[in-house]
Amino acid sequence: MLLVTGGAGFIGSNYVLSSLAATGEPIVNLDKLTYAGNLRNLDSLAGDARHVFAQGDICDRALVRELFARHRPRAVVHFAAESHVDRSIHGPAEFVHTNLVGTFSLLEEARAHWDELPGPERDAFRFLHVSTDEVYGSLGAGDPGFTEKTPYAPNSPYAASKAGSDYLVRAYHHTYALPVLTTNCSNNYGPYQFPEKLIPLMIHHALQGRPLPVYGDGRNVRDWLYVHDHCAAVRAVLARGRVGEAYNIGGGSERTNIDVVTTLCALLDRARPRKTGRYADLITFVTDRPGHDRRYAMDASKLRAELGWVPQESFESGLAKTVGWYLDNERWVADVTSGAYRTWVDANYARRGAA
Ligand code: NAD
Ligand code: TYD
Repeated sequence: MLLVTGGAGFIGSNYVLSSLAATGEPIVNLDKLTYAGNLRNLDSLAGDARHVFAQGDICDRALVRELFARHRPRAVVHFAAESHVDRSIHGPAEFVHTNLVGTFSLLEEARAHWDELPGPERDAFRFLHVSTDEVYGSLGAGDPGFTEKTPYAPNSPYAASKAGSDYLVRAYHHTYALPVLTTNCSNNYGPYQFPEKLIPLMIHHALQGRPLPVYGDGRNVRDWLYVHDHCAAVRAVLARGRVGEAYNIGGGSERTNIDVVTTLCALLDRARPRKTGRYADLITFVTDRPGHDRRYAMDASKLRAELGWVPQESFESGLAKTVGWYLDNERWVADVTSGAYRTWVDANYARRGAA
């Protein structure tokens, strides 16, 4: 049994679905169901006894304790977080609450549980913490990619809260010998991503004929990874990673934002042509994000060398699959872009204006 946190969110739900298919190991899924969590992502598991859903907050220590006692998971896979940089700029408090205090709560309850386990179970127990490349800060154009030895330099409240949680995880290993693993992954994309993040937001706006808001000059670079490749990497680290180590995960697919948006427009032009004009006509440069990191790039050679992980999707194949998924799942998008979503989009984009 695994205890997965945040398993109704974008990456977490892809992890729950792909892991049940890959290994069949039962999962108890603890998720608060914030705006970003959606049980419809897990509709295909209805009636499947291998998936137990618990709605709740990772900060609720009594609930977490009860889940450990009842289900006796052999590992925690910790995805739950506030995850959107722009939201962290508008309101950092939730990020400190969930990402820092929440991770602390989980670590405390995991430690109490692990301390009481008999020898073999104690040796086998793992706490896998899912983190991000954003903890390393921003790269210049010619810099080599981040390695696991790159000093942390988080620049947004989101990145700082994730960096703090990574430090707590590290400290629980060094101080208490809790058997932890940390993964730091680059930008993900794929099915079930909430349309506040770049790729699904652009697809959603394009299909509605709304402006495609590119921040600043559009030359910021991200290293994109298809979400199923991230999930496979997490499984590899959980199964075979060295305790106490961090592993960088990245797609080796660096693209400028404007390249990503232009490629998306071209895919949509083919799949669902507009009545007049092309989707790229909707691109609008808007005021930049404050403190916007210029470039992220991951060096995933440790993961490749130690665990043999390689991504299965190229950026082109993954993006084509993603566009296909969003075109086939307009109902899902309509459901998640309800009132609260519109309030967020208005708040984030109204004050930007055209750059
Ligand atoms: P997401 O925002 O789509 O999902 C987060 C999930 O966590 C939601 O289901 C939400 O309901 C749940 N949650 C939030 N606060 C909670 C709380 N207090 N208690 C319990 N559940 C709570 O996020 P995502 O994009 O799937 O990211 C998952 C993890 O991966 C995060 O830790 C994030 O930092 C990390 N990560 C994301 C990316 C990316 O590109 N999306 C890249 C690298 C790492
Ligand atoms: P995002 O998906 O928010 O991920 P992150 O900030 O964690 O990398 O943004 C990806 C890139 O796209 C980032 O450089 C900001 C940019 N961006 C836009 O240009 N316009 C948008 O509307 C959004 C949401 C992001």
